[in-house]
Amino acid sequence: MLSAIGIGYSYPGGIAALDNVSLAIRPGRKVALLGANGAGKTTFLLHLNGLLRPQRGEIRLDDVVMGYDRGSLRRWRQRVGLVLQDPNDQLFAATVFEDVSFGPLNLGLTAAATRERIDTSLAALHIETLADRPTHMLSLGQKKRVAIAGVIAMRPDILVLDEPTAGLDGDGSARLVALLDALHQRGTTIVIATHDTDLALEWADDAAVFTAAGIERAGPVDEVLSDDDLLVRACLRRPWALEVKDALATSGALNGNRLRSRADVVAAIRACLNRVWLHQAGLVILGDGKRL
Ligand SMILES: Nc1ncnc2c1ncn2[C@@H]1O[C@H](COP(=O)(O)OP(=O)(O)OP(=O)(O)O)[C@@H](O)[C@H]1O
Ligand SMILES: [Mg+2]
Repeated sequence: MLSAIGIGYSYPGGIAALDNVSLAIRPGRKVALLGANGAGKTTFLLHLNGLLRPQRGEIRLDDVVMGYDRGSLRRWRQRVGLVLQDPNDQLFAATVFEDVSFGPLNLGLTAAATRERIDTSLAALHIETLADRPTHMLSLGQKKRVAIAGVIAMRPDILVLDEPTAGLDGDGSARLVALLDALHQRGTTIVIATHDTDLALEWADDAAVFTAAGIERAGPVDEVLSDDDLLVRACLRRPWALEVKDALATSGALNGNRLRSRADVVAAIRACLNRVWLHQAGLVILGDGKRL
């Protein structure tokens, strides 16, 4: 369990970013942090692996208050990996291979185990062919993939990603979500900050919404994203699956099924079209299967 308790943080110049923010991230969950530009998501994530130190409050990992000496930070960052919003802030080595190698080389693994981690991470992000390229000679989306590969090579228990799909093409975005799901299946807890409420609804278990007041609401993602007033206050778009859900609700096509992903929506529309077809054929079937 990774917990933030009463975190307060202001940037130099007195710019208040977080005021008394608390959130418990339970093991094995997929968590989406949502909120308007400037609401504090990035500042919060930077606290989760000790890159920022709270001016008030504390971070606990498995109920132990985290320390900020070198040894504590090193152990902390092995367990909590953070992918920054801007890959230019994360990449520092001369080549892609060296960048992805850096973390595993410092874990004291055998040469074979280190190489296996690097190769697996490069393959997971489909950047094997970029291995020898200088990191500054890449597109933004390619840099993002390298930054993610470097962090997953550390095999953290908790993986935190700041806007991971921003800047990725459609295929890269879908592959990334599949990768996050695969890591989650292997027991990794995953936290992302995103503006994409469609992705959050489809992918996450839990959501926390940041507004100027801090975290205004946290809980199961479908409940949080059904709070229309909150979405307006947080400058978030209503997920399109919920728009479709409302439109279909009166048709009986939902049958109480969940409607969160593209596949759910397609299935519900198919069911609705079948009803229309049956109706036109004079065979209206009620939700309970009885015929009129
Ligand atoms: N380096 C910085 N120096 C001073 N103020 C900063 C700095 N970074 C962020 N802030 C301020 O802190 C507040 C929170 O910013 P933060 O980057 O955490 O928001 P965010 O929710 O991640 O926004 P976005 O959706 O745009 O990424 C904002 O008022 C912002 O202007
Ligand atoms: Mg941000």
